[in-house]
Amino acid sequence: MKITVFNGSPRGKNGNTNRIVEAFLRGAEKAGAETENIFLVEKTIEHCLGCFNCWDTTPGKCSRNDDVEALHSIFLASDFVVLASPLYTDNITSILKKFLERILPLVNPCFEYINGETRHTRRHDHYPDFIAISNCGYPEYSQFQVMSHFFKRLARETNVAVKLEIYRTMGELLKIKHILLNPVVNRYLKNVEKAGEQFVQNGAVDEKLLEKLKESLIPEKMYRKMANAHWKKKLSRL
Ligand SMILES: Cc1cc2nc3c(=O)[nH]c(=O)nc-3n(C[C@H](O)[C@H](O)[C@H](O)COP(=O)(O)O)c2cc1C
Repeated sequence: MKITVFNGSPRGKNGNTNRIVEAFLRGAEKAGAETENIFLVEKTIEHCLGCFNCWDTTPGKCSRNDDVEALHSIFLASDFVVLASPLYTDNITSILKKFLERILPLVNPCFEYINGETRHTRRHDHYPDFIAISNCGYPEYSQFQVMSHFFKRLARETNVAVKLEIYRTMGELLKIKHILLNPVVNRYLKNVEKAGEQFVQNGAVDEKLLEKLKESLIPEKMYRKMANAHWKKKLSRL
């Protein structure tokens, strides 16, 4: 089984999203998966020109000459693709969005009508299912509503599914070195690792573990207080 991560955080390797991704991949590898962790911020990805050349002039091939064509091959050769991004303005980052807009050449221009909605027909026999990994600054799980909905809509376009969603609230806590917080974060990351292992072994993660992954790292009220104290201290130094 090949799992490829497309990470859209501008912080790349040093981001909170990657802390979760790395734990997940550790578990997946333990269970025998082959993995690749791609940081989109390190790639040259131009925006889609909307020219439709990839449909009517050079079918399947984008007219822009950058890193995306190589990423297409990796995308298609994967069994599962992890769409990883921090929550930015209630959605994925523009880095990941730019990449996802560029997968247009992977489908055909012609329409099909399935279950009351139109979509493009497939150009390839195999498309990877999705796994979503994200983290955000706010403490409520509801912050991920738009992102979760977006991934499901995107999956529909290639007739695949979002097989697993791992969303971490209070994500900035993942990088804080604090004697009381470190065991909490380590326990969380161990559970993410377990989820990676289970996913590869069983094709799913058990409900109990999924619920655990959603639990707050610290009480919400305490988090808001800590965040405000942090910013006030920073601003007082200006
Ligand atoms: C431009 C910008 C927009 C953001 N928008 C949101 C948001 O809508 N909701 C939220 O909870 N956090 C938001 N955040 C906070 C990030 O999700 C948070 O810092 C996260 O830990 C960053 O992950 P990373 O280290 O993987 O990049 C935003 C941060 C930035 C810089």
